[in-house]
Amino acid sequence: MRKTIIVSNRLPVKITENDGEFTLQPSEGGLATGLGAIYREGNNIWIGWPGQEITDPATQEKIAKQFKQLNLMPVYLTQDEINNFYEGFSNETLWPVFHYMSVYARYEQTYWDAYYQVNQKFRDIILKVAEPDDIIWVHDYQLLLLPGMLRAALPEISIGFFQHIPFPSYELFRLIPWRAEILEGMLGSDLMGFHTFDDTRHFLNAVSRVLPVNTTANVVSYNDRAVVVETFPMGIDYGKFSSLGNDPEVLEQVQSLKENFKEDRLILSIDRLDYSKGIRQRLQAFELLLQLHPEYIGKIVLYMIVVPSRDTVPQYKELRDEIDKQVGNINARFRTLSWHPIQYFYRSFPVSTLSALYNFSDICLVTPMRDGMNLVSKEYVASRNNNDGVLILSEMAGASKELSDALIVNPNNLGAIIRAIVDALNMPLPEQQRRMKPMRQVVSKFNVHHWVKLFMTRLKEVNEMQQNML
Ligand code: UDP
Ligand code: G6P
Repeated sequence: MRKTIIVSNRLPVKITENDGEFTLQPSEGGLATGLGAIYREGNNIWIGWPGQEITDPATQEKIAKQFKQLNLMPVYLTQDEINNFYEGFSNETLWPVFHYMSVYARYEQTYWDAYYQVNQKFRDIILKVAEPDDIIWVHDYQLLLLPGMLRAALPEISIGFFQHIPFPSYELFRLIPWRAEILEGMLGSDLMGFHTFDDTRHFLNAVSRVLPVNTTANVVSYNDRAVVVETFPMGIDYGKFSSLGNDPEVLEQVQSLKENFKEDRLILSIDRLDYSKGIRQRLQAFELLLQLHPEYIGKIVLYMIVVPSRDTVPQYKELRDEIDKQVGNINARFRTLSWHPIQYFYRSFPVSTLSALYNFSDICLVTPMRDGMNLVSKEYVASRNNNDGVLILSEMAGASKELSDALIVNPNNLGAIIRAIVDALNMPLPEQQRRMKPMRQVVSKFNVHHWVKLFMTRLKEVNEMQQNML
């Protein structure tokens, strides 16, 4: 039976070690939560890193067996690979450049060598399980060379690629010393997908400037093959978030939030720790809001969850320290005996708690400096079964292209963020509903199942087209 092999650096579950005992937990991040809904179908498998260094061969085998039951296959990275491939090239080179923060980028030959070698490691593991009529679906910036490596080994196999983060303008992309190799690697795919039209256009532009290829509209002719490049905005599991609102455990948590916060209006902020998320600017805006509008002191609360992420990378560690300080200062400056302006959590939460917060919060404040899509904004919308609540959304998030009825802000414009919060706090219910309803329709219709189906259908069409061209 034909199977789909999903490949990404991070698996949807991660291993955590406690006193020598290994336990499995769901991974955070849009890729893992979004695709988590579909990989269990049929005999599909998902290949990737379980997020922890495991060196003992017996433990590796034990985990692999356990994973097999879950349709998962682990790729074990050594500490050296974690340092140079994951933290290094993926998150200190590609991540900052692709998020338009190139001042943070490091261009190290050792990082690149490790990136190349780990992409080969993934290839070798895939080659052990792939059969000629399988579909291989590669995900995200950690594995940009993999499609090309797979194509060289399996010229006829069907390969799709989807990038979950932005693709930057050529002027940024060209900074990377290995730009041509990266594009050649990506072009091993048959179909490539990006979240937004701009990302797609930036990719096509980069290809036509860096490589000697022909591009027409959205097709790149490369090595006598046609590679199709299109836009597929990723969706979420709408049904799950919408129905979680009626789950007894969630209702109980909503009740305890009501008891805790009584008349307070809650502004919700949920992100992974990341400089691309605009957390510091958001805090600055919140501080200014309390300064300029003292009437809100004691009446509004910023409920801020920052999920630990990549905290061994220097910029992330620094960011964490800066956020700690900023939150401490704001709370010390504005708190009263019975009220704290910011409830700050540096940890992750189960989806039931996230759902309770999405249900309870009057406002969801999402202001990334750059974000491929941003699924948190869609999860908030999907959770608002009463069509109330206000989403404030950065124009730099891919989601802003679809959720145009949100209050859209430029995340660098603190004044605009403050005005949006004030507008949201004062927005009459009919206007909240007028905005929320169409956004819910969009998130419901273009859900993650629809996204997968669209990508897969298109991949099959592209493969048929290629057959006819032979
Ligand atoms: N998330 C999570 N646990 C938490 C907080 C968030 O699993 O404690 C999830 C959240 O529900 C969302 C994802 O992490 O699905 C974040 O995805 P998003 O696209 O917003 O940002 P990314 O982390 O991919 O940059
Ligand atoms: C974003 C990326 C994913 C990544 C996730 C979490 O969503 O697009 O590829 O898995 O962040 O980051 P991490 O480094 O913990 O895998």
